[in-house]
Amino acid sequence: MSHSPDSHPIAQACPASAQKSTNLQGTIQIPGDKSISHRSFMFGGLAKGETRVKGLLEGEDVIATGNAMRAMGAKIEKIGDEWIINGTGNGCLLAPEQPLDFGNAGTGCRLTMGLVGSYDFSSTFIGDASLSSRPMGRVLNPLREMGVQVTAEKGDRLPATLKGPRIATPINYRVPMASAQVKSAVLLAGLNTPGFTTVIEPVMTRDHTEKMLKGFGANLEVATDADGIRTITLEGQGELIGQNIIVPGDPSSTAFPLVAALIVPNSDVTIENVLINPTRTGLITTLIEMGGNIEIFNERQNGGEDVADLRVRSSELKGIIVPPARAPSMIDEYPVLAVAAAYASGETFMDGLDELRVKESDRLSAVAIGLKLNGVDCDEGEMSLTVRGRPDGKGYGNTDGARVVTHLDHRIAMSFLVLGLGAEHSVHVDDSNVIRTSFPEFMDLMTGLGANFSIREG
Ligand code: S3P
Repeated sequence: MSHSPDSHPIAQACPASAQKSTNLQGTIQIPGDKSISHRSFMFGGLAKGETRVKGLLEGEDVIATGNAMRAMGAKIEKIGDEWIINGTGNGCLLAPEQPLDFGNAGTGCRLTMGLVGSYDFSSTFIGDASLSSRPMGRVLNPLREMGVQVTAEKGDRLPATLKGPRIATPINYRVPMASAQVKSAVLLAGLNTPGFTTVIEPVMTRDHTEKMLKGFGANLEVATDADGIRTITLEGQGELIGQNIIVPGDPSSTAFPLVAALIVPNSDVTIENVLINPTRTGLITTLIEMGGNIEIFNERQNGGEDVADLRVRSSELKGIIVPPARAPSMIDEYPVLAVAAAYASGETFMDGLDELRVKESDRLSAVAIGLKLNGVDCDEGEMSLTVRGRPDGKGYGNTDGARVVTHLDHRIAMSFLVLGLGAEHSVHVDDSNVIRTSFPEFMDLMTGLGANFSIREG
């Protein structure tokens, strides 16, 4: 079965190039949201009874999460266009017999550490070179407070083995950085912990875990104080019941055709069924502030989330100062925002970017190096990026054929391919295979709109 959630380690690198394109036209549907897709497999795999999921993102990251849930007792199959999951029941995950391989997926790995870490058995987590270089202490530390024993590589990196206590201790945890993964990992550990687990979130991040857990029947309350500080309280050991889920289109994947349509002259692109949960729309707000012609229409509710269609037309962008407080609502979008800034007149200043250093790659440095390699004037600060744009893309690209190093980072690969669509010379990336982790349809969808890409195997 082609959709069996078997792990596919990323194959040999596949370099690709992007060339100046004249106009992007058409209507596309973006594949399902990655965050919601991971959680659909996790919560469906844990809940009692049947969960049916439509619109699931079938990228490698999400498939790895499906594999992990299967290894812990969930039954998962695809029938027609629906994923059918039969969960174990809360508290009833089985000990995985093999290490859980999350490939490139930080969200799958960190959330599953919370989900299973509090069980009284061992589970081992492994991943690719990118995931193995990322810090896991941010999740392992609160789990340790709950009684989980951890052995991990230096700096709390993978491979890591977790073993829960007989009975985990509920904690009251203030998340020290803006991270939905950390918030979620603690809440998920709380599902298998007696009493109330509390997470205090000083800066709001994407709220899919809270919304979806409530939908599955968890006793979870959110209180927000006058300063916007959120207190999330979850009662452990409750029952979760299977649900029907419709996954809306991923706004983080939408970002690529969105920026492409803004920077390529004479473009007019409609992107349908995009999740517009306000914890995810920072990029749209920012691009509109920069002068982007983005029409948000047909706003509706779909499966408990706000969705809309977007019409995007080529625009004369201007540089702005992006408020750092907006970072959590667009944290994955800075690489492609930097590309939009490269085509804006004047200077764009992005600050509060410390979290970019611990993504699939050090994105701040990967973006700055890639921009410079392609003739874009920018400065990398410790936590900031300044880009001075050139709307006509004159001189952009790399005439020597030098490739942007993507460091196994899908968003770096896609961002630089978008940069090439407006550049005078070709932009080359060292690998396009990595794009499969989050957006396997990217090349085809973009080419269908008129993007001029070329792929070179080997
Ligand atoms: C995600 C949270 C974010 C984001 C990631 C998905 C999630 O990570 O970058 O792509 O689904 O919870 P952080 O929690 O590290 O900010």
